[in-house]
Amino acid sequence: MSVPVSIFHRNWLERREHLRLIAAAAKAHATGLTLDVGCGNRPYEALLAPHVKGIIGLDLPPDQDIERRPGTAAQRSQAVDVYGDAMQLPFADESFDTVVSFQVLEHVPEPQRMMGEISRVLRAGGHLILSTPQMWHVHEAPHDYYRFTRFGLAYLCRAGGLEIIAVQAIAGFWARAGLKLTYGLDRIGRGLGRISRLLSAVTLPFIAAVNLAFKLLDMLLANEDDCVINFLVARKPQP
Ligand SMILES: C[S@@+](CC[C@H](N)C(=O)[O-])C[C@H]1O[C@@H](n2cnc3c(N)ncnc32)[C@H](O)[C@@H]1O
Repeated sequence: MSVPVSIFHRNWLERREHLRLIAAAAKAHATGLTLDVGCGNRPYEALLAPHVKGIIGLDLPPDQDIERRPGTAAQRSQAVDVYGDAMQLPFADESFDTVVSFQVLEHVPEPQRMMGEISRVLRAGGHLILSTPQMWHVHEAPHDYYRFTRFGLAYLCRAGGLEIIAVQAIAGFWARAGLKLTYGLDRIGRGLGRISRLLSAVTLPFIAAVNLAFKLLDMLLANEDDCVINFLVARKPQP
């Protein structure tokens, strides 16, 4: 199962790799009953569902919804199974075989508490699959608190009682540079009122060209210290 992302999309440089890693981690580690913490609109459901028995999506209640884009409230109410806070998960100890959480940790004021809660609700031997940005512009303001290096993630995992299986860097220096350009082009395409449709017809091919050129550079000159996202797989050890 795959989730497609268009070469004309401004996020292609990180999203393609992100989707690939989620699919691989789900295949290798996701089992049983799974909790998606900060599920949003559950964009990765199709990658997880074939490997698990069921997925419970948890997110903040509507009055605390931090994604205030038009239309999100209605979609959100259909996507979320349980309203709750990642820092105080409303589940008994060891309730889940797998926990996933994508692009949420940076929005939680006390990430160490969130990691401790994930560890508490995981059964021994169960896995956490998590991604969070290392370098990304401020989003969902003002609820955007942190960025995490692989070392910070490793620390939070160990402090929560989890052992790390792998931390992988998504999109290095050149991909990050390319993302700045694709976001700039996208902004030009969207930002000029009535002629925006005409402009985006011009900018879209440039976005695709930047995506391909900077992907090639990123493959040739990889540098994980400059990555856009860190992708983590961890396990709760057996007692
Ligand atoms: C950037 S969105 C990511 C959504 C989804 N995981 C995805 O990858 O598309 C961050 C999500 O985290 C949720 N969130 C933020 N703080 C939270 C908290 N304390 N407890 C539960 N969810 C939280 C937000 O409501 C939002 O849906």
